Amino acid sequence: MEHLAEMAANLCGIIATRGAMDFKEQLKSSVDIASVVGEYVRLRKSGTQRYMGLCPFHTEKKPSFTVQVVHQLYKCFSCGAGGDVFKFVMEIEGISFYEAMKLLAERYGIPMPKRSLVADEDSKLREAVFQMHELAQDSFRASLKGPAGEAPRSYLVRRGMVPETAEQFGLGYSERSGRTLLRLFEQHQFTASQIEQSGLVRKREDGSFYDNFRNRLMFPIHNESGKIIGFGGRALSPDDNPKYLNSPETPIYRKSFVLYNLHRAKEAIRKEDRVILVEGYMDAIGVTAAGFRAVVASCGTSLTPEQVKAVKRHSQRIVVNFDPDAPGANAAERSINLLLEEGLQVRIMELDGDLDPDEYCKERGAAAYQERLDKAKGYFYWLADRARSKYDMHTSEGIVSVLKSLMPAVQRISDKLERMAIANDVAGYIGVDRGMVLDSFRKAVAERHEKAFERPRVEIRADERVLLNAVLGEPEISSELIRELRPIGAMDRLSSRRIFHVVFALDAAGTPLTFDEVNARLEETDRNLLAEAVLREDVEVSREEALAAVESIRRSQAQNQRVELKARIKESERGGRWEEALHLMEELQQLERTSRERR
Ligand code: CTP
Ligand code: MN
Repeated sequence: MEHLAEMAANLCGIIATRGAMDFKEQLKSSVDIASVVGEYVRLRKSGTQRYMGLCPFHTEKKPSFTVQVVHQLYKCFSCGAGGDVFKFVMEIEGISFYEAMKLLAERYGIPMPKRSLVADEDSKLREAVFQMHELAQDSFRASLKGPAGEAPRSYLVRRGMVPETAEQFGLGYSERSGRTLLRLFEQHQFTASQIEQSGLVRKREDGSFYDNFRNRLMFPIHNESGKIIGFGGRALSPDDNPKYLNSPETPIYRKSFVLYNLHRAKEAIRKEDRVILVEGYMDAIGVTAAGFRAVVASCGTSLTPEQVKAVKRHSQRIVVNFDPDAPGANAAERSINLLLEEGLQVRIMELDGDLDPDEYCKERGAAAYQERLDKAKGYFYWLADRARSKYDMHTSEGIVSVLKSLMPAVQRISDKLERMAIANDVAGYIGVDRGMVLDSFRKAVAERHEKAFERPRVEIRADERVLLNAVLGEPEISSELIRELRPIGAMDRLSSRRIFHVVFALDAAGTPLTFDEVNARLEETDRNLLAEAVLREDVEVSREEALAAVESIRRSQAQNQRVELKARIKESERGGRWEEALHLMEELQQLERTSRERR
């Protein structure tokens, strides 16, 4: 009996999975991979059906990441990452297949059929946590507007934030009671375990729950697709500690991956091809309100490589605008190395009057901020300034110390000309001999071990490339081509032979020929070969070109046969088997005649 129930459950699972698969195909054909990927990665068109950009999955300075529209695929020719639009969304958002499907369906307004709503446990939990964040956000906002919001509203007034800005950034207020969210979540029948894992509610020793955020001004934190994944809560009175309380890590919030305000800023970041990095929520808000929309904040953690990668997908030019105090400057110095490591172009923006970016915008105005922005220094000058103020430049020890302190940054400049130019500038700037600077730079660079990260290109003949593109990309001529190619024995000598065997088998079975279908049936090396042939360049093939490629394969077939026949003739002659030799010679002549006729 139990066994039967299990079987039935399995069967339901299989049917549901089928449903999901049908829907997957339907969804896939209605979303455009270039525009989905394009939301995360700045892409440049590099062919009629092809885009390129910097790979979001590894660190690179020259683009080897490709999106192929015909095959609806992405592929990085350096690190090898690749797949369809679902895989991309799964990898970049760190979510399950089910969630990726749901995210795309929602974004494109395509209703998900009930039968495909089969989520795994992790996805279900994350879904519940997302919903709790939505409920929390509504509740916080209502509280800020309601009678309990009196105190936080006047706090905002004191800090010079107008209600429209508070609204724009979704600011809210968490009430004192400590039971508001708890009650709300219970009403909505979330389980105790879901509630506990939301990070919005905490558990006492006795097992009872209470709201994590109490009497705080609430800043919602969004992921790049604009969903709320956490909160920062600011204390309203100076003796309430800590000043900022942030959401803990939860199934939907990985701190080190998130930049505050990126989802609002990314459009402006791309358009201006520059991003401003500030430290605090209030800074990001204040700077935006002053009209500078391309601003993000690192949110209470020191900057991480993942955060740098996230912003780099939109622009490689960054202006660091941290607090003018010592901790701010130290944080800026740490960030510089990280930013250079990821290949960003870094400038440092300094504010006078001991004001942080938010205060500066409010007290001095947008024009003054713009002026500081325009005057932002290349990171080298900033580092040199800092070093100069630390050491005594009248002694040779001091000079050596200054140079030494610049070396970590020097080592990260991979371009030789750029390094020389900077050495030159720095020499003039700190007033030391140019040769000495260049010398120390050279030594520093020699110590650096840069790991080469480039896959060897796989060799493939031009005619193979044309045919693979035609067979997979031009459905009107593919069956004609397959009919021609199948009997050609020389196909078995091509490096792409195993790919063609899969193509022939799929065609015989009546399966539609798509990149995915073929790719799914290949081993790793052949997958790389296929990607090389079909995805690296944008190849559009006409019927004439395809038929010419068939001819070329056929010619190589004849060529192979000729070589083979000649060898056999020699063999027969050597063994004195004249009749056999004569026979083979006739065959050779026949072969040469037909290949001449063909040409
Ligand atoms: N931060 C934090 N925890 C703290 C202090 C700060 O997480 N105890 C984070 C917050 O993200 C904050 C940022 O670090 O926004 C910068 O800190 P700070 O400059 O002190 O805060 P401001 O954003 O300037 O806030 P305010 O102007 O309200 O003091
Ligand atoms: Mn501040």
